[in-house]
Amino acid sequence: MNKRQFLSSSLAGLGLLSTGGKITALEYYPLAANKKWAIVYGTWCGSTRDAALWISEGMGGIAQVFDVRETPDPAPYENIVIGGAIRGGQVSEELQKYIAENKSKLKAKLRGLFVVCGNMMKPVTAEQKAEMIDRRLAKQCDVKDLPSQAFLGRITYSLMDEASRETLQSFKMPEYDNLKRPECMAFGKDLLAAVNK
Ligand SMILES: Cc1cc2nc3c(=O)[nH]c(=O)nc-3n(C[C@H](O)[C@H](O)[C@H](O)COP(=O)(O)O)c2cc1C
Repeated sequence: MNKRQFLSSSLAGLGLLSTGGKITALEYYPLAANKKWAIVYGTWCGSTRDAALWISEGMGGIAQVFDVRETPDPAPYENIVIGGAIRGGQVSEELQKYIAENKSKLKAKLRGLFVVCGNMMKPVTAEQKAEMIDRRLAKQCDVKDLPSQAFLGRITYSLMDEASRETLQSFKMPEYDNLKRPECMAFGKDLLAAVNK
């Protein structure tokens, strides 16, 4: 094997290939037949990415999962789920901007919304969920009464920018992991069942 073959097989092994100069992750569909679903998430530290992947796993892995920074075009998809990590009661500016810029394309395709929050490690009440989803995220998307879920997330200090770390540590917030894969998968199953019924 020469040097060029070695490098390209190593990149393929890592799931990375170059397309026109841009390094991109390979698409991953456990069930390749259905490419109708997309889940678009906004995250700072990754727990919302994991929630989105586990929601897709609950659907049998049929949804393509995008970080909103990839600005996926909603056009090829029939069913779209939007989810965001919460800071200061809101999803990220990138997610809000994506929603605002794609509102007309997204509106008829949205099948579910979710947020991932810390909520001081306490269970999310119906009122808190309504505040984060019904009165904010759903409003930004201009939709009502979609299936929705508020998951508890994680705090991992090593993944945080310095200012955020200092703010949270000043509250004596410990690191925690409250995100539950079975809860995310159950939401994915419910979303799929609602569309297939
Ligand atoms: C700077 C900062 C602000 C936060 N603000 C809130 C908040 O207003 N409400 C809340 O419930 N959780 C809040 N959290 C907790 C996050 O929502 C939680 O850590 C979540 O898992 C982050 O998702 P991510 O890992 O996808 O970024 C905050 C966390 C940080 C670091």
